[in-house]
Amino acid sequence: MARVLVTRRIPENGIALLKDAALEVDVWEQDRVMPRKELLKRAKGAEAVLSLLTDKVDAEFLDAAGPQLKIVANYAVGYDNLDVAELARRGVKAANTPDSLTASVAEHTFALMMAAAKRIAEADRFVRAGKYVGWDPMLLHGLQLEGKTLGVLGLGRIGMQVAHKAVNGMGMKVLYHDIRRNEAFEREEGAAYATVEDLLRQSDVVSLHVPLLPATRHLIDAEKIGMMKRTAILVNTARGPVIDEKALVAALRERRIAYAALDVYEDEPRLAQGLADLDNVVLTPHTASATVEARSTMARLAAQAIIDVLSGKEPSNLIKA
Ligand code: DGY
Repeated sequence: MARVLVTRRIPENGIALLKDAALEVDVWEQDRVMPRKELLKRAKGAEAVLSLLTDKVDAEFLDAAGPQLKIVANYAVGYDNLDVAELARRGVKAANTPDSLTASVAEHTFALMMAAAKRIAEADRFVRAGKYVGWDPMLLHGLQLEGKTLGVLGLGRIGMQVAHKAVNGMGMKVLYHDIRRNEAFEREEGAAYATVEDLLRQSDVVSLHVPLLPATRHLIDAEKIGMMKRTAILVNTARGPVIDEKALVAALRERRIAYAALDVYEDEPRLAQGLADLDNVVLTPHTASATVEARSTMARLAAQAIIDVLSGKEPSNLIKA
């Protein structure tokens, strides 16, 4: 019986799928990230690993696992935790869960954008603190989004869906930047292509949807933040290191931009010093994909990729090196 290591508890449908395929399923039973030492120990002899974005799958991991390992299926769309080139070099297949979370992450992007524009978290804290003593014409003014410009950085599936909802649901204008221009998308959504710099200068809300790559690390640094409107909101549901978080804290403190709304952090789960003390930031704990629907689809896609590879089939969600 082939052994599959599942590095943390995932929705039951994924586990059931693996068990129904007559695989031995070894699930890390503690509700925390598996410590590296334990991960290397448990990977030894596994034919498949269902990994999480918190597990670094690199040469050391692959050495520890051994040559029988056939597939690492990452329970995520992003796979910056996998050394894809090293996996390919050793002939170990890699999979992710594309399109499982597009709608959920796009919705969460709006939840964050709205929370920042309407100052929801601040307002909630205000009421709970007993400070609401009567209607006040000057209390907690925020930003109306209709008619404003949303800048979408990264036009993959999620970026496209955010842009679509912004135009059609919110009456916003959309600028976008991607390494590839998409003229069909421009026609369909009435969106306009812009350089990163123009997008930052002209947008009222900037939303990040790029993968984490060497070229996107600190894409938003002090200089780029300096290009944004003082009234702008910065939303990040992509990957934390895309923003220089220290520079962001300084900019928010000095009101160089109005607000940030973050689901991801540069050094998760740690936050840059001072970030959590700021009023003009709303924070969620990397939960943009945390819906019942998205998480069970992720579990199914990751488990099915393992079953396919172990039975000699080619899953559609293999990552190309
Ligand atoms: C992903 O799948 O890349 C997400 O970050 C998980 O929430």
